[in-house]
Order: sequence, then structure tokens, then C-alpha cells
Amino acid sequence: MNLSNDKTKTTPRHFIDIHETPASELRKIINLAHSMKKMDPKHLPDHLSLQDDLTVLAMIFEKPSTRTRLSFDMAMRQLRGKTTILNANDMQLGRGESIADTAKILSRFVDIVMIRSNSHSDLEELAEHASIPVINGLTNFSHPCQILADIMTFEEKLGPIKGRTVSWVGDGNNVATSWIHAASQFGFTLKLACPTELSPTGQQLEDIKNSNGTIILTSAPMEAVADSDCVVTDTWVSMGDEDIERRKELLTPYQVNADLMKKASKNAIFMHCLPAHREEEVTSDIIDGPQSVVFDEAENRLHAQKAVLAWCLQLV
Ligand code: CP
Ligand code: NVA
Repeated sequence: MNLSNDKTKTTPRHFIDIHETPASELRKIINLAHSMKKMDPKHLPDHLSLQDDLTVLAMIFEKPSTRTRLSFDMAMRQLRGKTTILNANDMQLGRGESIADTAKILSRFVDIVMIRSNSHSDLEELAEHASIPVINGLTNFSHPCQILADIMTFEEKLGPIKGRTVSWVGDGNNVATSWIHAASQFGFTLKLACPTELSPTGQQLEDIKNSNGTIILTSAPMEAVADSDCVVTDTWVSMGDEDIERRKELLTPYQVNADLMKKASKNAIFMHCLPAHREEEVTSDIIDGPQSVVFDEAENRLHAQKAVLAWCLQLV
């Protein structure tokens, strides 16, 4: 009789990046998110409910979070599972215990891990050594869970995203990376307007080159948003960025304001992953105006996270 909690014989279904997840599986996750939003969480169908009350998600945070923390916590509760929240600085990981050993320990205690990590390579190393699914809850490189919620929001407001145009305006950051990964997987055109100094670089550029999608890079915001279905931006200073004044100077011409939104399609929506800095990357009249869908987008993190958890736990 095996009394060990060693799960090394199973193959975990990680959710690390959008371009590493097959397009058919991504579509399954988004469709599930749409249908889960319509379900009463008190009466989930048996196959979507963890039921035994013993399935636990560990959440590790190396950086602050409001939406990711809340959405995963509530998603797990609604699936009838449990969560444990770990601050990386309070773990031995923060005192130098190896990522590999941490992955093996987590795998003996819990069933699934979501990590918000400073370093993408740390996330990859954790996934490599874990025998349970690992979910990317944001790294310096990407934020795939956000983009699942964003695609869900786009489709809720404007119908299927395939063949449509999304415009990213601002810093070529981690959220931009996941939009880049999504373009080919979901078949939409992505136009990115970034100042040259903050344009996609390194692995992001490689991923653009290797993408089968239509991705247009420019430094001209008006050009990028022309006739677009959706204008997206994000903070000018991401967690961990240091060159604050230089960034603000470079990004000022990339503010999403009424003049810019006028260039987009008449029915265009405005998205932002939040937290937002009003009068910096976006003016209040836009983020609080009729084209903005930012609070539905934030709520959709919950439904998208329920779907991604169900997928990783192989409920679907
Ligand atoms: N959009 C997002 O990931 O928000 P938090 O940093 O609050 O989790
Ligand atoms: N680009 C931002 C996203 C926050 C959700 C950051 O990394 O801080």
C-alpha cells in the first residue's frame, strides 16, 4: 500500500503561457468561462465541483495583488475547493531554499499552485519540478490569466474575437506579451503602439517572429488604433520597474484619451487590466466613460480563473 503523497507519476497540466497551450484547449477554457459565468455557483454541475472539499490551491505571491488574489480565492471556493495563501517572503523560499525543493514540497501538500513571481524563469523551474499543475499568476514576462479574462470580455461585448482587431497602446510589458501570444491562438489582429525604447524586445520579439498571427508593431498610437475594435493599455510603471520618470516622459504621448479613442471604431471598447493611474495612461473620461469595460473585465477574472482551474485539475 502506497501511503506517500508523491504525485510524480501523474503528468500535471500547467498553465504557463498562452502560446504554449493548444488553441483548442484555450477555446475550451474560454467557452467554459462564458458558461460558468451564467451558472449559479451554488449549483455547479457535479463534474465541475470538487465536492470532496479537500482539493487545495496554494497561492504564492512575490508581488502585491488584488484581482488575482481575490479571483483565484473565490474561484476555488466556488469550485468547492480550498486555498492557502503564501507570501514568498514568509517561506523558506525567501531565505534561499531552492525552487526545485519548494516545488517538490508543495506537490506533497497541495493539489495545484498559482504563483505571482518576479522572474519568469523561476516560474518555469517551479513547473519543471512540480508534480501538480502550476499556474502563472503574472511574471515579469507575461500575464496569461489576465488575457483569458480579456478575451472573454471582448467576446461578451462584441462577439467572437477571431478576425477582429485589438490595439495595445503604451509600454510593451508583461500584459502586452500575453496579448502577443493570444493573437495567433485566437486569430485576431494585434497592433502594438509603443515608444521605441519600450517596444517588445528579446523573447517577446522572438515570439512575435515565431507567431502565425497578424501582429503589427508601430510607434504611432493613432495609426495603431485606427478602426480598431478594442483599445487596451496598462500602467506606465509595472511592479519592479525603476526608471519611473523616464518611462513617464516616454509614454506621455501614448495616453489613451478622447482624441485617441475617436480614431477607433465607433463601437470600440476600452480595456485595462487594472490597477489604473487616471490621467497617466488613461484619462478619467475614458476609463469611467461608456466605452470602458474595465470592471466587467475585472469580474471576468473570476470566471476565467474558475475555468482555468477546472482545466488544470482535468475536470474538463
Ligand atoms: N490585473 C491584475 O492582475 O490585478 P492585481 O495585480 O490586482 O492582481
Ligand atoms: N504590468 C503590470 C500589471 C499589473 C496587473 C505589472 O506588472 O505591474
